[in-house]
Amino acid sequence: MKFPTQDCTAIITGASSGLGAEFARQLALQARMLVLVARRIESLEAVKTNLLAIRPDLEVHLVVADLALADGRSVLVDWVKKSGISLNLLINNAGLGDYGTLASATQERLQAQIDVNVTALVLLTHALLPHLQANVPAGIINISSLAGTIPMPDHAVYSASKAFVTSFSEALAVELQSQHIQVTCVCPGPTPTNFSMTARRPDGTDTDRSGQRLLRIPSSQVVAEALAGLRDGKVCVFPGRGVSIAGSLFRLLPRALMRWFLRRRFNKGTL
Ligand SMILES: NC(=O)c1ccc[n+]([C@@H]2O[C@H](COP(=O)([O-])OP(=O)(O)OC[C@H]3O[C@@H](n4cnc5c(N)ncnc54)[C@H](OP(=O)(O)O)[C@@H]3O)[C@@H](O)[C@H]2O)c1
Repeated sequence: MKFPTQDCTAIITGASSGLGAEFARQLALQARMLVLVARRIESLEAVKTNLLAIRPDLEVHLVVADLALADGRSVLVDWVKKSGISLNLLINNAGLGDYGTLASATQERLQAQIDVNVTALVLLTHALLPHLQANVPAGIINISSLAGTIPMPDHAVYSASKAFVTSFSEALAVELQSQHIQVTCVCPGPTPTNFSMTARRPDGTDTDRSGQRLLRIPSSQVVAEALAGLRDGKVCVFPGRGVSIAGSLFRLLPRALMRWFLRRRFNKGTL
């Protein structure tokens, strides 16, 4: 199933920065309408200003909502119902991480990752699906991560949440194919956005960055490959050559061998 992005009406969650803002920028010249969703209104306004500089007649709506909360998700779903827009592209991009061990994490940060990365993505998809079904051909982009292919110590809940997103997306792609709804799951590697700043804890805990240099590509390339994947009917996209190789390798690696590598890395090679 291919989804042409020309003249699309798209909702982009987490559009106030990083990959979400970049999706908006790259869709600006093609979309009929963009609906940008996040909590920070000033950042959303700044993204909107940039979009109108690219294309002054683009219809852009801002919806301020905390997607971690049921009330916040209802704000978006109710807005879609009331506005009567012909939604045909949903980009589930909002997400966050938390660097450090489970034992040293706070309940709030663990809960926030599950609420945004998993609960919001599933429940928004479910609530907005009837709108997509009414406007086929339609598309869904779910932002997962390369981290979803490896159970990452020091990022355990995040990587598990992204493994969920990948599995959920692959199943949904099969369910919706005959309904002319393309589901594309995007698994970026480390990408320079605000992600690391948010994931870092107040005590400064950072992730192990060894080897990341080979995987890092700019957000513009991540988004360009994601949109190309959607247009070409790809179910999984690992943007960048390094990430694509790593993704294939991690998915093929025997689990015991993977755990051996992860133990060595977690214990900084002291095993
Ligand atoms: N950067 C990377 O290295 C990387 C790698 C793989 C996957 N990803 C994934 O890419 C996606 C985008 O992240 P990014 O890298 O662009 O990071 P980012 O710059 O920190 O953007 C995260 C976006 O999510 C929104 N968000 C977070 N919590 C929210 C909530 N409760 N309600 C509504 N919106 C919320 C933020 O908006 P507000 O703060 O304004 O609400 C922001 O717009 C995430 O799903 C992330 O897991 C990132």
